[in-house]
Amino acid sequence: MKIIITKNHEEMSRKAAALVASQMILKPESVLGFATGSTPEGMYQKLIEANKKGDIDFSKIKTFNLDEYYGLEKENPQSYYYFMQDKLFNHVNMDPQNTHIPNGMAEDTEKECREYEEKIEKAGGIDLQILGIGNNSHIGFNEPDTEFVRDTHLVGLNEDTIQANARFFESEEEVPTQALTMGIGTIMKSKKIVLMASGKGKADAIYNTVKGEISPEAPSSILQLHRDVILVIDQEAASKL
Ligand code: GLP
Repeated sequence: MKIIITKNHEEMSRKAAALVASQMILKPESVLGFATGSTPEGMYQKLIEANKKGDIDFSKIKTFNLDEYYGLEKENPQSYYYFMQDKLFNHVNMDPQNTHIPNGMAEDTEKECREYEEKIEKAGGIDLQILGIGNNSHIGFNEPDTEFVRDTHLVGLNEDTIQANARFFESEEEVPTQALTMGIGTIMKSKKIVLMASGKGKADAIYNTVKGEISPEAPSSILQLHRDVILVIDQEAASKL
């Protein structure tokens, strides 16, 4: 595990964007795994700027997002579909056909999850997966559990995740209680992983990721077993290492 500690969120965003950009330059047809949340927002902004300057090209890039709330329409501003269009896809030369996000309105969720896995496989697997991290060490929406779930699946969200994400909604009651998420196996199959974290609230989760016991009760701890993980984290998130 490589750990890059930055002064703040801004420097974290710049450095993570540089890693994504170098992947895109080396392999213009890369398959990228993307994440939502406030952590990667600044990085997406940097990628937009680099695309506008002509330094990176999205025309052959394929993307797969980690997760989506279950029961939110694409048009809902809180959906991860909406987030990705708004924060990145609408502003770069990306072919919309090449972007993939689990369908949060799927009636047959098992079929949706199975097909999502198949699409990733058909694309040749994920070259670089961006991850944020939950305060409780969740990655994607893989919540602390008694086992690691391998494939993309429907998951019930923990109370602390619902509370943490309520800041984006009018009230806590509006936060969906379920989500579709890549599984731990889906994430671990990525060739390279860049995990981003910023702020004191993430310090325990980062401790668990780097030094904690490998356990499904702290899902990010499994990353200790991956051979190419880079943590790009700010000083506050790194404060308990
Ligand atoms: C959500 C997402 C995660 C994300 C986490 C942290 O639960 N499913 O992928 O990493 O939030 O969000 P933030 O970056 O806003 O702290």
